Amino acid sequence: MKPARSFASDNNAGVHPKVLQAISSANQGHVVGYGDDPYTAAAVGKFKQQFGSDIDVFMVFNGTAANTLGLKAMTESYQAVICTDAAHIYTDECGAPEKFTGCKLIPITTTDGKLTVESVRHAYHGVGDQHHVQPRAISITQVTEMGTVYTPKEVRDLARFAHQHDMLLHMDGARIANAAVSLGLTLREATRDLGVDVLSFGGTKNGAMGAEAVVFFDRKLCRDFLYVRKQGMQLASKMRFIAVQFEALLTNDLWRKNAEHANRMAALLKREVSKIRQVRIVYKVEANGVFAQIPRQAIAKLQKRYFFYVWNEEEAVVRWMC
Ligand SMILES: Cc1ncc(COP(=O)(O)O)c(C=O)c1O
Repeated sequence: MKPARSFASDNNAGVHPKVLQAISSANQGHVVGYGDDPYTAAAVGKFKQQFGSDIDVFMVFNGTAANTLGLKAMTESYQAVICTDAAHIYTDECGAPEKFTGCKLIPITTTDGKLTVESVRHAYHGVGDQHHVQPRAISITQVTEMGTVYTPKEVRDLARFAHQHDMLLHMDGARIANAAVSLGLTLREATRDLGVDVLSFGGTKNGAMGAEAVVFFDRKLCRDFLYVRKQGMQLASKMRFIAVQFEALLTNDLWRKNAEHANRMAALLKREVSKIRQVRIVYKVEANGVFAQIPRQAIAKLQKRYFFYVWNEEEAVVRWMC
């Protein structure tokens, strides 16, 4: 039988063969657990090649943990994180960021998945007032949850605003590879060079089996992160098998090839469905997601063949991830 294919999520896809091969190749003999091993050192070296040697990187199992623990390292419980009302940290992490950081998340309505300096300025208040939570971090998602991509200027402006107001910029980069490719930038140019302080670096949606990382460009913030990660139940004992997934993705630009392919497939899908009169593309297709309004009666029929999620029930908008 032909293997099933869906447009539900990048996570419905399998693992890149080179990643599986790397896991298999690392499955030799014994090495010390918990990250004190040559495979982890090699993967950290690959991150440093991408982002510069003066960074710290901590691998975790999933994106919710990368976001939650990264934000925990940036905040105190009386502070607040400003994000969009579509942010994964706000809508799809079952309150983990609130539980672990103790912080209030301040959601800002968005029509394209993005925060702007203007919208953040609106939410930035109560500073110095003992009755108010104190804004401490701006969290942006790149690629956004609506498949759009912040321009370098948009990220830089948000970073500048954050830093001018004693705040930090967090980036949920579950799809940072797709964003970098879309912008024609290196991973570093798309993050650190724009002023991001802490990055959740996504491996899973880029072909890994389950590998995410918290990358600190502001190293002061990770002084206690070893303990934060362990207390957050995200310290892998057999760390080598997470590490080699990153090593594979960050070798010979595999991360880039995978992201280019996914983005190209979304562009193709957009091009083809746009030929259908009843289909309306609702957000700019800038990475690997296509959001379309389609006839309501077509949804269930299509889902039987190629499963996908409905993004907005009322408006019959569906999300097709490549
Ligand atoms: C924007 C975004 N951030 C983070 C994640 C990571 O989530 P998970 O905890 O499922 O790995 C996802 C996955 O769906 C996502 O779309």
